Parts: sequence; structure tokens; C-alpha cells
Amino acid sequence: MKLPRTLFLTLFLTHGVFSAPASGQPHLNGRSFRVERVRRGSNNLHGPTALRRAYTKYGIVPTDLGIDLDDFEPIAMHTAAQQDFSEPELDQTGAVSAASVQNDAAFVSPVTVGGQRLILNFDTGSSDFWVMNSRLPELETAGRTIFNPSKSNTFQEIEGATFNISYGDSSFAAGDVGYDTVDIGGATVKRQAIGLPTTVSPSFLQDTYSNGLVGLGFSKLNTVQPKKQKTFLDNIAASLDAPVLTASLISDGVGEYEFGIIDHTKYVGDIANVSIDSSNGFWEFKTAGFAVGGGPLKELDSVPTAIADTGTSLMLLAEDVVDAYYEQVQGAVFVSSASGYIYPCTAELPSLTMAVGEKHYATVPGEFIHFSEVGVNKTTGETVCYGGIQSNQGARMQIFGDAFLKAFFAVFDLRGPSLGLASPTY
Ligand SMILES: *[C@@H]1O[C@H](CO)[C@@H](O)[C@H](O)[C@H]1NC(C)=O
Ligand SMILES: *[C@@H]1O[C@H](CO)[C@@H](O)[C@H](O)[C@H]1NC(C)=O
Ligand SMILES: *[C@@H]1O[C@H](CO)[C@@H](O)[C@H](O)[C@H]1NC(C)=O
Repeated sequence: MKLPRTLFLTLFLTHGVFSAPASGQPHLNGRSFRVERVRRGSNNLHGPTALRRAYTKYGIVPTDLGIDLDDFEPIAMHTAAQQDFSEPELDQTGAVSAASVQNDAAFVSPVTVGGQRLILNFDTGSSDFWVMNSRLPELETAGRTIFNPSKSNTFQEIEGATFNISYGDSSFAAGDVGYDTVDIGGATVKRQAIGLPTTVSPSFLQDTYSNGLVGLGFSKLNTVQPKKQKTFLDNIAASLDAPVLTASLISDGVGEYEFGIIDHTKYVGDIANVSIDSSNGFWEFKTAGFAVGGGPLKELDSVPTAIADTGTSLMLLAEDVVDAYYEQVQGAVFVSSASGYIYPCTAELPSLTMAVGEKHYATVPGEFIHFSEVGVNKTTGETVCYGGIQSNQGARMQIFGDAFLKAFFAVFDLRGPSLGLASPTY
């Protein structure tokens, strides 16, 4: 069966159609705004690196993540995309360009904090807003863009407040907290709590593309002590037309985030409305089944939930799903040293259908599941690729990162709360 780019098999009658104003144009009144994404330069984020990041974020301890060079040789990453990077500009509609790094390993967006421009990663899988800043050791921030609170007229220390976010065993940021004015695409929050880490893990120092994170999970996950602080989305929600964030992530890195409006020109058909359980602070929903290619739907009872996470590149799924998937990929092998499946890049990838919520199934086309080239098989001379679907190593949740989200127009809706998914027009 040939599946269209995205497909919803609606088991029951859907009425996930919202009643937002039927205007395709983002408003300019500050009640909605969008953040565009443009292709950004290349980066050395290979599949295994993206996987390592995802694992550390969720505290998953893989056995070994060094890629095994005996089996295949690493190939140079493409560098052509490097020229494509240009400093994002504000346009008159209040939209902001943002960027993706090569292979969609991360999506970052420009934001101003206290008037200082920073490129930040929008992360629906965490709830702290923090920036690389002048309180970090000078040696660690040499040559990179940082926020300097003493050069901001609007910065206000929150005396005695600290934050300490740990994305896993080895990845963290911790330090002071203050309020400052944050502007994203022309929409402003005057007193946004900003973490000013005095210490960050090496993984953040190595990531020279992003200057910090905008946590867009639920405020419950916020780590500021002694009093939790609100996320940017919670702070801006009341002044928006609708308390929503939409993500239009596109595989080639062009796309946008938009706050406050559901743009009807960006999708076709109905928006499937998936009910969110925010009790753990995540955009978490039920996922009871899956299908590979046009195959039969199978029940999945080991890991019944998943979270939608724009801050993770891959899809980390229950082992039975991952194994069933790569069984359908010719030449796919599990390389334990990379903790992941690789396959000849010429292999055709089947689509993957996942249950989302209780009433819908969402299909990710095969071409979206391809993640990156990792090397050349010495025996066959074939280029070997790394898949965008990998194991969650038995974790409590499955993580639906960009490999999933870029197949859809996604609506993170605080009403409900709910997650809307629709077939994109872009
Ligand atoms: C942050 O929390 C971790 C434990 O979760 C602790 O080991 C670390 O010392 C804390 N860092 C700071 C700066 O408080
Ligand atoms: C390399 O190719 C050989 C022969 O097809 C195959 O057995 C082996 O699994 C491949 N190795 C990798 C890492 O793809
Ligand atoms: C989705 O459902 C929730 C209730 O579960 C509702 O509050 C919300 O408005 C719905 N969203 C849309 C876009 O229909």
C-alpha cells in the first residue's frame, strides 16, 4: 500500500477542528508572531552524537556510544551548507528567521534577551529558559556569543534564586536566575525568568551553534529554586489570540515556529486533536500501537506513552518497534558500539505509523526517517546511513523528536492541553 506523505487513520469520528479565526495571515498586533527557520551551516553532529544527546537529556545510559571504526570509515561531513548561513533578520511582519543545523540535528532560533541577540534552541522537552552568559568562566565562552546581564538595562537579579537543570547524567546547566525582557519575533515578555548558568556541561560548550535553550514544556518541570518560574509560553499565553505554539519543521531546515495562531494555510484536512497528559511536565500522550510500512497495526504495551520534543532530533522508540522497523530495511544492522541501527544509504526506508492518543494514527514517511550518513562499509564500499529511529533503551517514555515532528504541522495547545497534528502544506 502506498501511503501519502502523512496519513491519519481515524478510528472514530474526529472533530478536532478548532474555531480560530480563518485568517491565513499571521497578525501584526503582537498577539501572534512567528519565528522562521532558515538553513544553517553544517555542523559535525552525526547520528550517534544526536543519539548521545538524546540519551543524556533523558538520563538513558547506553552501553557504548563510540562508533566502531573497524566496520566502516567515517566520511567527511558536507561543508557546502556552511555558506548558507546568514544572520537572521527581522522582517516587517515581525517574523524572525531561525535555523537548522545540517541533517536537522537541532533547530535553533534568534531571540533577544535584554536587547542582546542570541540563537536559542526551542525545546518542548524541558522548561527552563537559560543562556550562555558572562558569569561562565571566561575561558569557556571565548569567541562565542553570550548574554551579559551587566550590559542590559532591564535585567533584574532574583536574589537567592538558582536553577539546576540536568538533562541526564552528564548534561547540565546550573547557576543564577534573573528577570529580563525577552523578545521573540516582536512579541515581548517583560519579566521572563532567565537562567544564567555559572557552570554548564562540556556538551553545551561544544555546541557553538546554540547560545542556550527556550524551554517550552510545562512550567512544572522548571527547576528554579526556591520558586518555580513560568516558561515563555506560559508568560505570553494570555496576551495571544490563542494559547498555542505551532511548529512547522521541514526536513531541509526551512520552516518556522509560530505563537498565538493556527495558520490555516499550513495544513490540509483536519487537525487531529490528541489529549495531553501534562502531569509529568511533558507534552505526553498515549501511543498504544504501531505499523511498519503498509503492514498490520500491532499493539504496543511496553511503553504506552510518548512525548513531543522539538529539542531532540531523533525518534527514540520502544525496542520492539525499532526492531520491527529495521527488519523491513534491507541491509540494516544493529551496531552496538553506536547503540543504533545503520543501513546502506541506498536502502529504501518504509514509513512508520504510530498511534497518537486514543483515536489517531500518524504516519511518518520513510524519507523523513533517514537521519545522516555515518561512514563507508569497508567490505562493500557502500555509504552507510544512520536511522532517525532508535531505541529508547527501555525508558518509561518514547520520544517523538524532529524526525517525527517534521512530518506534520504540530500545534502545542495549552487548551486541554492538547497536541494537534495535521498534514502540512509546506
Ligand atoms: C545540580 O544538581 C546535581 C544533582 O542533580 C548536583 O550534583 C550538582 O552539584 C548541582 N549543581 C549545582 C551547581 O548546584
Ligand atoms: C558491511 O557489509 C557486509 C557485507 O554486506 C555486511 O555483512 C556488514 O554487516 C556491513 N557492515 C556494516 C557496518 O554495515
Ligand atoms: C482539543 O481538545 C481540547 C479538549 O480536550 C480542547 O480544549 C481544545 O480546544 C481542542 N483543540 C482544538 C484545536 O480543537
